[in-house]
Amino acid sequence: MSYGGMINEVELETQRLYKILGGLTDFKIGAKYDAAFCRAAAPFTLEINKLKKETDAVILAHYYCAPQIVYGVADYKGDSLALARAAAEVKESIIIFCGVFFMAQTAKIINPRKRVFLPPLFAGCSLADSVDAAQAAAMRAKYPRAQFVCYINSTAEVKAACDICVTSANVFDIIAASAARQIVFLPDVYMAADIAREMRRRGIDKEIIPFGGTCCVHDKYNAQDVRDIRAAHPAAAIICHPECAPQVCELCDYCGGTSGMLKFVKSSAARTFAVLSEDGIINCLEYENPDKNFLHYGRTCAQMKRNNLQNILGILKNPAPEAEVQVGSSVADAAKKCIYKMFKAGGADL
Ligand code: 13P
Ligand code: SF4
Repeated sequence: MSYGGMINEVELETQRLYKILGGLTDFKIGAKYDAAFCRAAAPFTLEINKLKKETDAVILAHYYCAPQIVYGVADYKGDSLALARAAAEVKESIIIFCGVFFMAQTAKIINPRKRVFLPPLFAGCSLADSVDAAQAAAMRAKYPRAQFVCYINSTAEVKAACDICVTSANVFDIIAASAARQIVFLPDVYMAADIAREMRRRGIDKEIIPFGGTCCVHDKYNAQDVRDIRAAHPAAAIICHPECAPQVCELCDYCGGTSGMLKFVKSSAARTFAVLSEDGIINCLEYENPDKNFLHYGRTCAQMKRNNLQNILGILKNPAPEAEVQVGSSVADAAKKCIYKMFKAGGADL
């Protein structure tokens, strides 16, 4: 290609990116993404999108990743459940999972013949890192008759020690449909309280035994925040993720996972939304609803933000075996049963 042709290609890519990003907030600078940002990103997105095809790779991105990833290079974007399902369907030989480690691990468990990479190599999650297999086993010994339900934000080893896994999108329905009365829920203590509240609301008799984990992003919101927002923005709908404290969830107009928030905002008549979650979902809400306004509170998941165009490109250029996500076969087999029970309970035909 001629030099002039290359300039033209970068310019066209800059324009494509600016159409996507121009209306979205760059939380690093507190202003909308500008053309200079898009021009700097364009050579990366161009090369990533080309190399993906040449290397038979596919990119999955969680909604909390930066929008130049979610809308610029990802083939699949979604919440934890949608991405786990997408991982099962991938035909390409390489999965680049832009998210945190437990998500990439889940993709590897679901589709073990694929080579799975997490661009930052490791990115933790305060929930997944709050419980290990020994603690899960100790809970088993203490509650031998309970059903063990783990949030998908858990390690492969913890999933392997549990009966069924859930996500923010299906947690209430799966637990409501369970035959067990006594349920140990690992590891999110706030979500356990939300489950107990929702079961009471549905008139279903369940004993929910919590563990002590929290999300270090969502546990920063408190009930006073909601009251202050209500007073300052009486017309705004206040929405939150169920990883927030139950006192927060109770006061909000909607509480649901990232895909639930997207659906709620799309169908709501409100014009302004206060979003008590991670900033990445606010970019997705802005993208999907350019006619609505979003109030945000500067909460980012530092681990999710470790995914970037540079490290995605680095993996595509050198998908080295030592960078691959690996899960030992006995743990993977047991964890897979736990995840597939969720797929079956949620009606996925797999
Ligand atoms: P969702 O499944 O709702 O996308 O949540 C994942 C997560 O890590 C939220 O903090
Ligand atoms: Fe984990 Fe919280 Fe980050 Fe979600 S936002 S990945 S729960 S630390």
